[in-house]
Amino acid sequence: MKKFTCVNDIGSLPKALAEAAEVKRNRFGFTHLGKNRTLLMIFFNSSLRTRLSTQKAAMNLGMNVMVLDVNQGAWKLETERGVVMDGDKAEHLLEAIPVMASYCDVIGVRSFAGLKNRDEDYEERVISQFIRYSGRPVFSMEAATRHPLQSFADLITIEEFKTKERPKVVMTWAPHPRALPQAVPNSFAEWMNATDYEFVITHPRGYELDPQFVGNAVVEYDQNKALEGADFVYAKNWSAYMAPNYGKILSTDRSWTVDARKMALTDNAFFMHCLPVRRNMIVTDDVIESERSIVIPEAANREISAQTVLKRILEAL
Ligand code: CP
Repeated sequence: MKKFTCVNDIGSLPKALAEAAEVKRNRFGFTHLGKNRTLLMIFFNSSLRTRLSTQKAAMNLGMNVMVLDVNQGAWKLETERGVVMDGDKAEHLLEAIPVMASYCDVIGVRSFAGLKNRDEDYEERVISQFIRYSGRPVFSMEAATRHPLQSFADLITIEEFKTKERPKVVMTWAPHPRALPQAVPNSFAEWMNATDYEFVITHPRGYELDPQFVGNAVVEYDQNKALEGADFVYAKNWSAYMAPNYGKILSTDRSWTVDARKMALTDNAFFMHCLPVRRNMIVTDDVIESERSIVIPEAANREISAQTVLKRILEAL
């Protein structure tokens, strides 16, 4: 594997899931792959799970790991070509990328959407430059439009907990006080559409996602109706995608918060969220603390998704 930015890069999902199960059973069985190999993780944005799970995954594979927080202790990086660099950005990505690449074998990048210019965000300008100019395999640790390591971990988790061959999975928008990117819902939708699950998306009007990610999902604007018979409830906030409201908060309607009354509409569904989560905005305390909440095993599977992807990258070096 030369890059990992979307579901297509992983190939056959049954094969990837079988490999993830093997990695989970035998985490330290592949240390020979990472010997004398270095992973550089570059963060333009904050992280808890991605940072720790990916570092742990690399260590499980015997790799050395370096972490760069671009906005803390490094020179501020200009990402656009043609800019007169007379501001606070001291270095251009076009020099920084080959320099960083010279110190490592594999690069992970986290770079969120700016939520100001939809075209720029959806062109994935930052991670695309790493892929183009580094000469190294590059994987996404959440880019502007997708979070594939999260979605792969979500899929692994659903496979582990499902009791029906074809579960009903409902992704529901929920309120949040800050404007968040569409990367997680886009990516989750993309991965769910690659399965044969029954997949439903529910959100208030105005929060329609990019049709390329919605794919064949059923979009139901009535959250209560969408939740009926659900086996998995995947809650997430996102800001508006559609012009002219791109990146804006259109609603903070707390009637969309996932609470016990909403969960009672489901078929005793499991509750999922990628974390971090704002309690009593996205989900109530009682739901996230309930026996049907699987947010912790879901987060734990981030180590497995990262290790499976890194293993494939190392095998192809
Ligand atoms: N879910 C997720 O990516 O968590 P972090 O932002 O903490 O890495």
